[in-house]
Amino acid sequence: MKGLILSGGKGTRLYPLTYTNAKQLIPVANKPVLVRVIESIRDAGVEEIGVVIGQTGPQIREVVGDGSKWGVKITYIPQDSPDGLAHAVKISRDFLGDERFVMFLGDNVIQGGIGALISDFAHNDWNSQIVLKEVENPTAYGVAKLRADNSIEHLIEKPENPPSNLALVGIYMFDQNIWEAVNSIKPSGRGELEITDAIQWLVNAGYRVFPHVHKGWWIDTGKPTDMLEANSLVLEELTPTISPESIIENSEVDRRVTVERGARIINSIVRGPSIIGEDTVIENSYIGPFTSIYHHVTVQNCEIERSIVLEHSTISDIGTRLHDSLIGRNASVRRNDEKPRSLRMNIGDHSNLWIV
Ligand code: G1P
Repeated sequence: MKGLILSGGKGTRLYPLTYTNAKQLIPVANKPVLVRVIESIRDAGVEEIGVVIGQTGPQIREVVGDGSKWGVKITYIPQDSPDGLAHAVKISRDFLGDERFVMFLGDNVIQGGIGALISDFAHNDWNSQIVLKEVENPTAYGVAKLRADNSIEHLIEKPENPPSNLALVGIYMFDQNIWEAVNSIKPSGRGELEITDAIQWLVNAGYRVFPHVHKGWWIDTGKPTDMLEANSLVLEELTPTISPESIIENSEVDRRVTVERGARIINSIVRGPSIIGEDTVIENSYIGPFTSIYHHVTVQNCEIERSIVLEHSTISDIGTRLHDSLIGRNASVRRNDEKPRSLRMNIGDHSNLWIV
């Protein structure tokens, strides 16, 4: 079996962070979502993985390389224009050949990995397996309507009037019959070749598509709130470790805190679940639950809770507690003591600031 990860897309809903970084590379609990996807496929025993890339391809290649860091072999498949998930499958034909494969969207995070799903698919004669999850806002996703016997009645992409609350999770398994399906469908209203339509084609043609309803959590990390939610859920599952190469001085560090190599925590309180990244300094500060501070960050005289702070940023002397915040790379948030006493900003396009 092979793996296919779709990692194109501009991530417009995550601007400004995604002006300079691919959305799949934004870390959740200090690990890029895309790396979590690669590890999840590897842990299911699949080592040959194709990664479909778009405009942000160079950044993805730089981080993921040939995959040897994670014990997998990566082949990059450039997609010239974002013409849909089924189009991404189509252009991966040479890489996939006629093997069965698992396709995983590079911005999806799922509880419990996909080992059991892959093994179910390997031990059954289904032509395809899809993963469904009950959601509150089905209009944002592909939606499946099942019959009483659990077979698929029909699938529809982002319906105005959803026939059920079962969304299609971004994890799919196919055999070689998918090739006829992706070659038979036409672009949807949004001008894309939809994978949902290709699966519907398989169902109509009488192929066996097994719908697995996922019981754990699943996050499609499209928006800042999704990133924070995914961060909280992953932090809750992290086995905490304190690197022997970190320094903790005169501080209270909760047992559900991970402290990475080279981090220094001084005169501070850190409550878990949270993670403090490599070579990051936390001084005279409070770091609250569900916070991920990435590497080479400095936090001084501040309180931060349920937030994500990316690498090489500085946060100092903020009078109020920061929470539910997403702070990009090389950012600086600090107190202005100069006269006139005022707010000073130098923020990027599409940034959001909430002032008290
Ligand atoms: C895509 C699929 C949709 C699926 C979703 C899961 O949507 O088209 O069927 O439910 O991924 O993340 P998109 O992210 O392209 O809006």
